[in-house]
Amino acid sequence: METANPATKALLHWYDTHARLMPWRVPPASRQAGTLPDPYHVWLSEVMLQQTQVKLVHGYFLDFLARWPNLEALANAASDDVMRAWAGLGYYSRARNLKKCADAVWFEHGGKFPETAHELRNLPGIGEYTSAAIAAIAFDQPACVVDGNVERVMARVMRIETAMPQGKAQVRDAVQALLPTSRPGDFAQAMMDLGATLCLPRQPNCRQCPLAEHCLAAKAGLQHEYPRKAARKPKPHRKGAAYVLRDGQGRILLQKRPDAGLLGAMAGVPSTNWSVRADGAIGSIHGPVAGNWTRCGTVRHAFTHFDLDLEVWSLCIQSPPQLNGWWAHAADLGTEALPSIMKKVISAALPSAFHPVREGSRA
Ligand code: ADE
Ligand code: SF4
Repeated sequence: METANPATKALLHWYDTHARLMPWRVPPASRQAGTLPDPYHVWLSEVMLQQTQVKLVHGYFLDFLARWPNLEALANAASDDVMRAWAGLGYYSRARNLKKCADAVWFEHGGKFPETAHELRNLPGIGEYTSAAIAAIAFDQPACVVDGNVERVMARVMRIETAMPQGKAQVRDAVQALLPTSRPGDFAQAMMDLGATLCLPRQPNCRQCPLAEHCLAAKAGLQHEYPRKAARKPKPHRKGAAYVLRDGQGRILLQKRPDAGLLGAMAGVPSTNWSVRADGAIGSIHGPVAGNWTRCGTVRHAFTHFDLDLEVWSLCIQSPPQLNGWWAHAADLGTEALPSIMKKVISAALPSAFHPVREGSRA
């Protein structure tokens, strides 16, 4: 037996009984009996979890596995199908890179994921965090896995005075010092679970925490003061307009967004370009056809780097001219690669679009 750091031992001991069950995980007892998870499952879940909550990822992960049970299936899938299945998870460059990565591993690496963080890092969509997470969780490599949860836990345990992201190097050093040579995969997941269930951003539950005796912030009663916060710049605000055009059959005009840029390669109704700053009213003049457009309010959406207000305009014309895009029936919208903001836009114009009123039902 190795002599792990006492804090590491306490953490792993806690994880043995408190690990969260997740469909992509192998629980600690089975891991210690020698079972490692399927690297395809670990990779898929980590890419989905990059900017998204565990709760939302759950269903998407199971749906993906049902449809593409292994890397071969995903590498042979059509990109548009993958984009459609990803719709609603957000940060769509992840889906494009997911497909590129599946293709690279299947067609160029003989279908096997590399096992070290260093090699994984060269694959599409796999950055510093994800490469370390896959190496540790799928292959039990002693990789240093630092996500937002881990930053918060370590900032408290070590009372790191530097705000993030500048303090990241200190967090890495602290994690490195705790990293065990046996069970690095469980260690990484235990840190995440501690941050997600006990060492919460607002109300850390130090009484139940396995690290309490080792935590400099908690011992000083200062757990709420960490991680230190840098003054934050306000998010810029952008405006745009989106146009819900219907034809005589009640179908809606959809277009595929350009491959590059925000929501790239996803579907949507025509809109102004909100990646450039625009002030003032946008109006109906940028709609795909001229006509007597009706204003249907404003939809607000928070992106990572800006907040967006989109004016929603609606128009019905019996026989529309030839337009770029395709016409989708309201009943089929669920199968389109529509990001959440586009669902909000369509719902503003057609409140029942995603909640069809069934015959015989009464509201
Ligand atoms: N967040 C990202 N990856 C995770 C994992 N493997 N377990 C729990 N939360 C996570
Ligand atoms: Fe977080 Fe409190 Fe545990 Fe310290 S003792 S790691 S502040 S929950």
